[in-house]
Amino acid sequence: METQILKPTEDSINLACKLLQNGEVVAVPTETVYGLAGDSTNPSAIQKIFTAKGRPQDNPLIVHIANMDMLDGIVSKIPDDAKKLAETFWPGPITIIMPKGNKVCDSTCAGLNSVGVRMPSHPIAHEIISRSRIAFAAPSANLSGKPSPTNANDVYTDMIGRIPLIIDGGECDAGVESTVISTLDDTPIILRPGVITKEMIETCLNKKVDIAKGVLEKHVSDKKVLSPGIKYKHYAPKANITILKGTLEEFKKYVDMHTCDNMFVMCFDEEKDAFVLPTITYGSITSPQEQAHRLFRALRELDEMHAETVYARCPETTGISMAVYNRLIRAAGFRIIQL
Ligand code: TXA
Ligand code: MG
Repeated sequence: METQILKPTEDSINLACKLLQNGEVVAVPTETVYGLAGDSTNPSAIQKIFTAKGRPQDNPLIVHIANMDMLDGIVSKIPDDAKKLAETFWPGPITIIMPKGNKVCDSTCAGLNSVGVRMPSHPIAHEIISRSRIAFAAPSANLSGKPSPTNANDVYTDMIGRIPLIIDGGECDAGVESTVISTLDDTPIILRPGVITKEMIETCLNKKVDIAKGVLEKHVSDKKVLSPGIKYKHYAPKANITILKGTLEEFKKYVDMHTCDNMFVMCFDEEKDAFVLPTITYGSITSPQEQAHRLFRALRELDEMHAETVYARCPETTGISMAVYNRLIRAAGFRIIQL
């Protein structure tokens, strides 16, 4: 299959809508990362998404809508917490898990009786949904296990020959995927952190929310998994990444004692000059937002540089940094050394 990359124009957006209506899969930009969109009500379109990504069938997809009316039939009920979150943060980078409605096909939700829904704020994603009137399911547009794509080129690298069309909307704003929160129980639980933080959600709901076990540490496989996505290997470049927790001084001492071939240091912008080793930076130490924006590109850059061994500086674990930390520990296969 030939894969076209087109800039967003009247024609290309109409083409994307048409492909979606015909049960095809199209890559679209969102404010978080690029998504691989297909009609959430069409089992054959959903199968094409799973195949294009090489995604395990038991990992459910997120359904994207353009207005609240579209929720009808996608969810069977809107819990109070979900309503408050939607009013406050939609359109925007938060996915709310609610009881599943019967319009959405079972394979979209991997057989679960819940569904994750979000209303993207990206104008192109929004336009495609409202023009096609298709609530599309869209996972991140990477091959399963690779870092999520934050520009059209990175989508192309992974999806060439697998999908007919990529709409090139430039770089994604957030850079990490949406916050995923379940509102199925009385105490909402964050299954995946994002740029809408725990603190923002607690303020909105005026109550404590939980963080799922797998978010800040390795998921233990014999426990019940709330979000199937938690248990899979994620965001991993070819290199072996190890996160070193400690001061910059301790970090430098450690890497100097462990130098080897094709070794890189992944550090914050301000620290670049502290190393003689090759470095890849992922944003300013003072800007978690920038770290989120740059992280996935930095991980892909490591592959492009043929890095084999990488030592990474550790982000914080609260606020937006929780999302950065959550992605980085997965990219590192949970190899973390406390210095
Ligand atoms: O920002 C995003 O959310 C992007 C863009 C394209 O919208 N999409 C995205 O999708 O990141 P994906 O498929 O890569 O990640 C969806 C996550 C997975 O970890 C999945 O397990 C979880 O959401 N999820 C989806 N539906 C769920 C459900 N009903 N219950 C629990 N977890 C769910
Ligand atoms: Mg993904």
